[in-house]
Amino acid sequence: MKRELNIVVNGESYNFFIEPKTLLVQVIREMLGLKGTHQACDSSSCAACTVLVDGKAVKSCSILAMQVNGKKVTTIEGLANGTELHPIQQAFIDNWAFQCGFCTSGQIMAAKALLDENPNPTREEIQAQMDGHICRCTGYNMINEAIQDAAKRLQSRDAAKSKPAQRNLQPQKWMQTAKSGKGA
Ligand code: FES
Ligand code: FES
Repeated sequence: MKRELNIVVNGESYNFFIEPKTLLVQVIREMLGLKGTHQACDSSSCAACTVLVDGKAVKSCSILAMQVNGKKVTTIEGLANGTELHPIQQAFIDNWAFQCGFCTSGQIMAAKALLDENPNPTREEIQAQMDGHICRCTGYNMINEAIQDAAKRLQSRDAAKSKPAQRNLQPQKWMQTAKSGKGA
């Protein structure tokens, strides 16, 4: 008998009636058409299918969709801001951290889960998080470097956001203020 599934994927709410044995990856790829989440081994051994469930990295081929009922799912399609790539995506590009790209969405989602929790991870902490993410064609070193670079980019972005907005004084007004020494 079908059961009702309510989930939020990349900020949009969805309601489906599904077979209880339906996997999360099937909902993401087949029902929602979000093909950026890849499916390779189906045996929980490659991590290409990684998405975030309530911020935690999860292998979507290894979890029933009903287990995420009422939760928030983020896929690779949910990271960019319009046409602007997420800093982790851009860091992967700039550090040559992929070739065929088949494993990349899973790698980026796992990196996001790590950096959200630990904004300044060591190389070893990155290695521990990415353990089990199989890549057939890119050096793991470049992936680690991309994540370290992404951490720096995110820190600069957050620092820029937290700076107080500068007062926008008109030049003439600023001159008067400077000359008189009185605040505007
Ligand atoms: S497809 Fe999910 S772990 Fe390989
Ligand atoms: S970039 Fe090809 S498998 Fe990782």
